Amino acid sequence: MLTEVKETKMKFSKRTHTCGKLTVKDVGKSVVLNGWVDKRRDLGGVIFVGLRDRYGITQVVFEPENNEEAHRVGKELRNEFVISIEGTVRKRPDDQINKGMKTGSIDVIVNKIVILNESETPPFPIKDNIETFEDLRLKYRYLDLRRPVFQKTLLLRHRMYQIVRKYFDENSFIEIETPMLMKSTPEGARDYLVPSRIHKGKFYALPQSPQTYKQLLMISGFDRYFQIVKCFRDEDFRADRQPEFTQIDVEMSFVDTEDVLEVVEGLMKLLFKEIWNKELKEPVPRFTFNEAMERYGSDKPDIRFSLELITLNSVFKNSEFKVFKDAIESEGIVSGLVAPGCAKYSRNQIDNLTKIVKNLGAKGLVWIKVTEDGIDSPIAKFLSDDEKEKIVKTMNAGAGDLILILAGKRLKTLIQMGVLRLEMAKRLELVNPDVEPELLWVTDFPLLDWDEETKRYYAMHHPFTSPRMEDIGLLDTDPGKVKARAYDLVLNGYEIAGGSIRIHNSDLQLKMFKVLGISKEEAEKKFGFLMNAFKYGAPPHGGIAFGFDRMVMIFAGGTSIRDTIAFPKTTSALSLMDESPSEVSEEQLKELHIAIRKES
Ligand code: AMO
Repeated sequence: MLTEVKETKMKFSKRTHTCGKLTVKDVGKSVVLNGWVDKRRDLGGVIFVGLRDRYGITQVVFEPENNEEAHRVGKELRNEFVISIEGTVRKRPDDQINKGMKTGSIDVIVNKIVILNESETPPFPIKDNIETFEDLRLKYRYLDLRRPVFQKTLLLRHRMYQIVRKYFDENSFIEIETPMLMKSTPEGARDYLVPSRIHKGKFYALPQSPQTYKQLLMISGFDRYFQIVKCFRDEDFRADRQPEFTQIDVEMSFVDTEDVLEVVEGLMKLLFKEIWNKELKEPVPRFTFNEAMERYGSDKPDIRFSLELITLNSVFKNSEFKVFKDAIESEGIVSGLVAPGCAKYSRNQIDNLTKIVKNLGAKGLVWIKVTEDGIDSPIAKFLSDDEKEKIVKTMNAGAGDLILILAGKRLKTLIQMGVLRLEMAKRLELVNPDVEPELLWVTDFPLLDWDEETKRYYAMHHPFTSPRMEDIGLLDTDPGKVKARAYDLVLNGYEIAGGSIRIHNSDLQLKMFKVLGISKEEAEKKFGFLMNAFKYGAPPHGGIAFGFDRMVMIFAGGTSIRDTIAFPKTTSALSLMDESPSEVSEEQLKELHIAIRKES
């Protein structure tokens, strides 16, 4: 007989409407709704239940005089019970209309109810703006996702997938899947490895990105490719990084930088319009890497506020103040910013700022308070009158302002200034939800990054990035000076995409590997397949990849990509819900020819 009950339940559970649908137009209709009990109020005689599904909430009412049996079952309901009701739509009395709700002008008077499932009391309330530890929310992620904010964000993410797919399809791009089990490709992070059962001692790597595959697809003649694809990187995680994340990966043949930027701007224009109903400001500003670093101390500048850095080398070129003098003489930089109205900062507040830059490796922070009668600063005694006058003038500072200065090695100092700039923007509350979004390009990156520790060059983007043609000679003489044909797209201070025009010639690729300290043999072993492919008519090509989770985060107005991913990992790469990573059986390990070594 169980089947019979099940069948009637199934039939009954078929809904005529969702919980976000009914309005006064439906008054008098007989309807069936399914959903979760959001809230239940028992006013003695009458029971009101907010019935929730992902479309909205409808108030359903149990009245004993209407249906005694339904009212009796209504008393048993608790939050998060799943129910099916059949009832009649009734207009609410005028004084009970809730204008803030789409269904706020009607009730459904329940004639029949089936409890489809009961629920234990959830570990946190299923509503927005709750104060609960994120770890608890992640453990019960399926309940967390019931909350309106996540339903909204995942719906936005879904819409963005559709916009992206339609855009690329309409522009002759084709979506091609590439393998998840592949040969390790260096993208700067550590690989996630997958042991092979069949091939003892051998491993696949999960893709850090489909970089090599998309280049191979260009060689295969698919001249416009895109893919919405999972990437895996074993690196240190932050609010905008996950071990597995999603890219919109793009590659095009027969193109130059401008063509790629045009395609990307087209997509951004569409997303701005469709998601935010805003016009993208055009032309999209472009900053060279050098300019971005010098003016904002970052290669992903947030230009929603100014607080620009100013290089002060010319002001202090003859300075007797040792810190400035040393920096300038060793081709370093003296860089400053004005914190408007902050001359009132206490010693303690300035000490806190100093702590922040010292943690980043700065030796100290120079501060100058601009007053009506000149300047107040611990370094005032080391400055000439001319310098005192010039600094205030060059910084365009006024009485009441605080000038903050760092001096040292160029890039290092600028990065520290960049952090200080963001800190001051936070303190001065320069970014609020009404501030207009700012999209920009950063171009002309150095091709290579010198690492003091290992005394070798690393590719700033990845080793397949083409150097600027005019700089190729420098690869032999002064590799540090070579600029890349690379570009990053930045939205509100987040790098949301990065790409480049690629090397498509095996000799140049080999030379690049050499500069990176990768021998011919090693290059052959690791990338032989790619270099070989270059020999068979590789077209010039280039592309880009967007960090899709970051984009969703920004379009949703959030600050953590975890909130845009249905089942994310913690910052220590754990999935608290299914408790992965987890131990596996001896049997499984044996099959994979793996033994776990006990740490001594
Ligand atoms: P890149 O490494 O710059 O380029 O990655 C492209 C974009 O992906 C996003 N991103 C991440 N998002 C979340 N978590 C992470 N751990 C993470 N790492 C990167 C960023 C970044 O801009 N193959 C090249 C692209 C190319 O050259 O075409 C690549 O992967 O938003």
